Amino acid sequence: MRTDTGQVIHLADYRPTDFVLERVDLTFELDPTETKVEARLIFHRRPGADPAAPIVLDGDELTLSGLLFDQVEMDPSRYDATPESLTVRDLPESAPFELTITTIINPEANTQLMGLYRTSGIYCTQCEAEGFRRITYFLDRPDVLAPFTVNIIADKDANPLLLSNGNFLGGAGYGPGKHFAAWFDPHPKPSYLFALVAGDLGVVEDTFTTLSGREVVLKIYVEHGKEPRATYAMDALKRSMKWDEERFGREYDLDIFMIVAVSDFNMGAMENKGLNVFNDRYVLADPELATDADYANIEAVIAHEYFHNWTGNRITCRDWFQLCLKEGLTVYRDQEFSSDQRSRPVKRIADVRHLKSEQFPEDGGPLAHPVRPTTYREINNFYTRTVYEKGSEVTRMIATLLGKDDFKKGMDLYFDRHDGQAVTIEDFVTCFKDASGRDLTQFSLWYHQAGTPLVTASGSYDAAAGSFTLSLEQMIPATPGQQTKEPMHIPLSLALFGENGGKLEPSSVEGAEYAGEVLHLTGRTQTAVFHGIGSRPVVSINRSFSAPINLHFDQSPADLAHLARHETDHFARWQALTDLALPNLLKAARDAREGKPVVCEATFVETLLAAAADESLEPAFRAQALALPSESDIARELGGNNDPDAIHAGRQAILKQIAEAGKDVFAGLYAAMTTPDDFSPDAKSAGLRALRNTALTYLSHAEQTPARAKAAFDAADNMTDLSHALTILAHRFPDSAQTREALESFRDRFAENALVIDKWFAIQAGIPGAKTLERVRALMDNPLFKRTNPNRMRSLVGTFAFANPTGFGRADGEGYRFLADQILDIDGRNPQLAARILTSMRSWRSLEPVRADHARSALTKIEQAPDLSTDVRDIVERTLK
Ligand code: PHE
Ligand code: ZN
Repeated sequence: MRTDTGQVIHLADYRPTDFVLERVDLTFELDPTETKVEARLIFHRRPGADPAAPIVLDGDELTLSGLLFDQVEMDPSRYDATPESLTVRDLPESAPFELTITTIINPEANTQLMGLYRTSGIYCTQCEAEGFRRITYFLDRPDVLAPFTVNIIADKDANPLLLSNGNFLGGAGYGPGKHFAAWFDPHPKPSYLFALVAGDLGVVEDTFTTLSGREVVLKIYVEHGKEPRATYAMDALKRSMKWDEERFGREYDLDIFMIVAVSDFNMGAMENKGLNVFNDRYVLADPELATDADYANIEAVIAHEYFHNWTGNRITCRDWFQLCLKEGLTVYRDQEFSSDQRSRPVKRIADVRHLKSEQFPEDGGPLAHPVRPTTYREINNFYTRTVYEKGSEVTRMIATLLGKDDFKKGMDLYFDRHDGQAVTIEDFVTCFKDASGRDLTQFSLWYHQAGTPLVTASGSYDAAAGSFTLSLEQMIPATPGQQTKEPMHIPLSLALFGENGGKLEPSSVEGAEYAGEVLHLTGRTQTAVFHGIGSRPVVSINRSFSAPINLHFDQSPADLAHLARHETDHFARWQALTDLALPNLLKAARDAREGKPVVCEATFVETLLAAAADESLEPAFRAQALALPSESDIARELGGNNDPDAIHAGRQAILKQIAEAGKDVFAGLYAAMTTPDDFSPDAKSAGLRALRNTALTYLSHAEQTPARAKAAFDAADNMTDLSHALTILAHRFPDSAQTREALESFRDRFAENALVIDKWFAIQAGIPGAKTLERVRALMDNPLFKRTNPNRMRSLVGTFAFANPTGFGRADGEGYRFLADQILDIDGRNPQLAARILTSMRSWRSLEPVRADHARSALTKIEQAPDLSTDVRDIVERTLK
């Protein structure tokens, strides 16, 4: 493990390397514990660079076992090797030269899952961000690009498959029991996109013919026997390839595209050139084992990694500060893909829910950072919701500001101008400025200023003048390292609705740019006057969530109900329903805390039930509307001094009241929303299941017995229904005999299936209440639990810490102490995973004082532990600051 060196990296210190890498030739002799890596690297000194400068290559836990200069053994006086670097002096002033570096590495001992490691008997690599330096000494940074040749030698029986990036050159036997394969990737790439996989796997094969008529071979590798479970992923891949051609004009560029599913992986998936490596949970699916949410995630992640081929690989990042250049843009692209494949408003609702529940707390807490940060200690800790999801929102705002045509022109210019380069956010934004002529200087603050802007709005109608005046004010909260902020350019999609529900078109607007239904808020305060408005309008602001902001706009329940019925933008209808729900939930939390009875406002319940029963609305939309803001959403809105038990109790009381008032509606939906016997994972069928299952949840609140959920559990013929019923049983009736029986039968039925057992762990980790900690502890000793597997750890410890406010946040602080012990244990094996799970503490300051104190002590215990990794030290220190 790399323990912390305290080193901080600054964007301002960026400078190009002194040496240019021309070519890379790698030879791997694979062995589980002693793999020999020979790297032949051809460099020349960059014109203009210091003629005496040595070359300094990065390493991480490496030992050098051989070094040749132009094929001749190098005199030890000319170089220094440490585990972290290899420095070579006296190099030619301008002539190209070759370094041949040999290292011996131990894949079996690699528990960090960075570099070359073993998972379920196969060899696999993960190099982003800085894993390649665990394989060989290298200029391990994204602005060093070269074509790679890779030769792999391994035991033939154990490793019939030998894969790397690019196109297959050839293979043959290689001495007794061994064979080799050679791959060549003609597209210059940085080391973080390198991949190697070797082992014995099953495969699903297909082909795709590109727009220009080239045939590409597609292969998805999975464990033997799981091939049928990869067909949905293959289908999603082909749809992604087609969509990228149609929507962005991007064609695939190699003869083969491969995906390998592995069971030990720190992240979701990785876009290595031509050889994507996936966490198997984003590949494997069939109706018996995967939920509708799993299918949707698989489709999105397959698309995301495929889209990286252009946004990430062909055009990559100059340095890691530019991470959002590839990630924010690629998330935007995968969200658009899913919107086109499914329902656009429902996808938008799901994405905004996710943004608010994951990115907003990050942006509002101690870990807040700009979409394009300027400093970091550990780059692994910057694969964040801010870089990814807020980065996508910023791209989306560019599309909103420019309009469809100019946005497309800007993207085309970007692909044209920067293909083959490693570039910056400034380069990206300049393309849109050049394509549209729009000044994006103020807009660029979205990349540089952290924190979620708060926009406060108030309106007044002047009947005599026929005008509506909207006053807006923006405030960007202070965040770590950024005390004061400049006003931003905030594009607000906005429309006015009349009494009969129709849209009111203003004859002119004064005080702000308003075009294509977008109002441009650019000042700290701004007043817009809409003329030609014949009756009092109901205003809808930030439709489709055009900007990632918090909006304070005091609208009456009647106006919100009006929008919930008449808005043409269905996202905005959902927003109106949510805005109706929130004050009720906030008040419920306060009342529950004071031991007062919880009562729900009538307009809200009526409007919600009307939406639930409205057959003109998609079932998936109705399910989203009925899924009220979560406990952590409520906590975020309350803002401080939070008591998770009161929030939980208040929310449960509201659910019960809605359930009782809507008993007939829910019984009707439960009976009506059926799907054909033949399972299909399409969005429409998924929507029917979602609404039916939501109705079941409410019915269980109305009935207060596990009977109906148990019957649903017994009758379920797909994983969506089965896991939903199990969740109701476990979360609402944890101590009932029915729940015990259901949990046992689920475990016995799926014991062989790790991804399904993850659901079993997660459902139990999410059971509300103080007793769950004991259950989580016991589950950690369950033979089905495996500490070294990131998916298992995330499903049990991760779900407990991130998604169980009353269990994890129990008043005596035991949950936080438990987490501290787990983090220290995980950190010894897998720092990235430990740091990621530790971010669950990011909102500790908004807890009530007793819990906050316990949380601080737990964090301090971590901080004071010896030998912390850089990853955990960085997170714990920022969280405590
Ligand atoms: N680049 C990957 C993605 O978002 C994420 C990733 C980062 C995977 C670091 C592994 C390690 O598509
Ligand atoms: Zn990505």
